[in-house]
Formats: sequence, structure tokens, C-alpha cells
Amino acid sequence: MSYSNDQLSTYLNSLVPERRAELQKMEAYAQEHGFPIIGPAAGHFCYLIARLAGAKRIFELGSGYGYSTAWFARAVQENDGDEVFHVVWDEELSQRARKHLSALGYDDIVRYHVGEAVAALRETSGQFDLIFNDIDKEGYPDSLDVIEEKLRPGGVLIIDNAIWSGRVFDDSEQDASTKAIRETTRRLTNNHKWLASIVPIRDGLLVAFRQ
Ligand SMILES: C[S@@+](CC[C@H](N)C(=O)[O-])C[C@H]1O[C@@H](n2cnc3c(N)ncnc32)[C@H](O)[C@@H]1O
Repeated sequence: MSYSNDQLSTYLNSLVPERRAELQKMEAYAQEHGFPIIGPAAGHFCYLIARLAGAKRIFELGSGYGYSTAWFARAVQENDGDEVFHVVWDEELSQRARKHLSALGYDDIVRYHVGEAVAALRETSGQFDLIFNDIDKEGYPDSLDVIEEKLRPGGVLIIDNAIWSGRVFDDSEQDASTKAIRETTRRLTNNHKWLASIVPIRDGLLVAFRQ
């Protein structure tokens, strides 16, 4: 018995309870413009992890127009928490995110920052219960030191695109992004400070527990 990745994705997406109209609008925009949001199954999984972790303070690196932020904001709201940082270097995407997340009722929870995300994390004081990383893939390895400093012990790191459409396990793929994802995965899975696995939803979510 074998199945395609498309069949699996369709099935996993079909299991996610119906989303609010504003979230569906965001999904439709991604479809129409080919924008790489994490999508329903991965979004719902991130929400589940944030709920399980009881996350009250979350930092997102590379937030786009706020689709993944919406899932984390929902978890923080339900966890009776404080804040989710939305960070992206495109002003237009930040503005678009403000409209969507405001319509979803997350004005009190989301903090917006336009700029380079790793620098923003470095400059933000305090520690986080959960950090989500979805920046340009070449930037993944260099983000790890600051993430380690800013994630509290017992916190959770989630990194998107850990499978990278299968390029990570194809030795002929030697481009900078693929190599950066491989290096990041190696550093997190082979390190006594972390307990990590890749969950093969959509393009692969690496979930790592900071021991
Ligand atoms: C894959 S998209 C984010 C999708 C979003 N996480 C979601 O699922 O809704 C990544 C976004 O982060 C921006 N970006 C990439 N690297 C960045 C960096 N180092 N600092 C800030 N923004 C970055 C990109 O321009 C893009 O808008």
C-alpha cells in the first residue's frame, strides 16, 4: 500500500475543524497568490502544540501576513496568555496581517515588528514559551544561538520546511537552503540540550523541546 503526499495532505487538511471566515479568507489569498503559508493541518498542529505547552508568550520569525500567527494567537488567548510577536521585514505584509488579526479579535495579543526577525528576537527582552521559525532557510543555522538564549528551558521550538519537498534526503541537492535545513536539523537532533523530531505534516515541522 502506498500513497502520495497530496493524498496525505488532503486527508490531514480535511480533519481540521472548519475555520473562521477570516482564516478562510487568508487561506484563499495564499491559494490565489501562491503565498507559502503553513496551511490548515500544520496550523492546527502548531495550535495543538502551543495549547499542550500552555504557551503564554510566543515569538514568530518570518510571519508573512499572519496566518500562522492567527493559530498561535488563538492558543495564547485560550491559554490565558500574554503575547505573540509577529515579525516580518515586508511592511506591506505587516499591514495586511494587522487587518486580518484585528478582524479575528487579537489586537490585545499580537505585537508587530517590521524588520529582520533574528535581530528582532535578539533585541526583545525576556524569554519565550514557544518560538516558531519560518524565515528564509539560509538563515536557520545562524538563528539557533539566539533562539537557544530566548527560549525558556522546557519551551518548544517549531521550525517549518524541515522536509523541504524531499530535498533534504536527496544527496544531489546541495543548494544553500537545503544545506542550511540539514545543518539545523542535525544540530537540533544531535544535541543533549534538545529533544527533537520531524513531524511530516505538509513540508515537515521540526518540533524541539528545550531540555
Ligand atoms: C514562508 S513566509 C511566512 C508564512 C507564515 N509563517 C504563515 O505560515 O502564515 C516567510 C515570510 O518571512 C519573510 N522573511 C524571510 N526571512 C526573514 C527574516 N530573516 N526576517 C524577517 N522576515 C523574513 C519573507 O519575506 C516572508 O514574507
